[in-house]
Amino acid sequence: MSEHREPFLYVVVCAAGIADGVSELISEAHAEGWQVGVIATPNALALMDQDAIEAQTGYPIRSGWRAPGAPKPLPPADAIAVAPATFNTVNKWAAGIADTLALGILCEAYGLGIPMAVQPYVNSALAAHPAYVESLARLRSMGVLISECVPHKPNSIVGRETYKWTDVLALLRPMKQSM
Ligand SMILES: Cc1cc2nc3c(=O)[nH]c(=O)nc-3n(C[C@H](O)[C@H](O)[C@H](O)COP(=O)(O)O)c2cc1C
Repeated sequence: MSEHREPFLYVVVCAAGIADGVSELISEAHAEGWQVGVIATPNALALMDQDAIEAQTGYPIRSGWRAPGAPKPLPPADAIAVAPATFNTVNKWAAGIADTLALGILCEAYGLGIPMAVQPYVNSALAAHPAYVESLARLRSMGVLISECVPHKPNSIVGRETYKWTDVLALLRPMKQSM
C-alpha cells in the first residue's frame, strides 16, 4: 500500500448510459474503507454529475493527461475498479491501446501489478462480437477479475436496476486484506 492510511481505489468510469450511477459504488467503497478517485473516459464526462462526484470523493475527476511537471491530482492506486466498462474500452484495453488517460492507466497497471476488477455494461449485440469475447479472455489471462455480467438488450438501458455496482469491490476484497 502507498503511504496513505486507507488504500486508494481508482474507479474508472466509461461512457455507458448508466455512468451517473457510480455514486453507489463510491459510497460502498468508502464504507469498506477505500479512499476513491474517479478516472472518467472523455466520453463519460458528459454522462455524469461531475460536481457531485468530486464532492463525494474529495478529489478532482481525472480524464486527460496532466502537463509535464504538474502535481499529481490523485495518490497512486492500490487497486482499480472499472465500472461501468464499455465494449470500446474493454477491447482497446485488451489490445494494449492507450489513447485515453483511463486506458493508459489500465494498460500500465498490468505491468505495475495493481489488482483490477471489471464490471462491464454491454448490450447483447455488442457482446456477441468475437473481439469482445477474446478481449475478456485476454484480460482474464492477465489476472484481471471480471464480474459476472448479463448483457442488456440493445437500444435500451434495461438492466440499469440490476447492474451490480459493488461486485467489483467483492472481487477486490481478498487483496484489500493485505493492503
Ligand atoms: C447515451 C449512451 C449510452 C451508451 N451506452 C453504452 C453502453 O451501455 N455500453 C457500451 O459499451 N457503450 C455504450 N455507449 C457507446 C459508448 O459511449 C461508445 O462506444 C464510446 O466510444 C465509449 O467510449 P469509452 O469506452 O472511451 O468510454 C453509449 C453511448 C451513449 C451516447
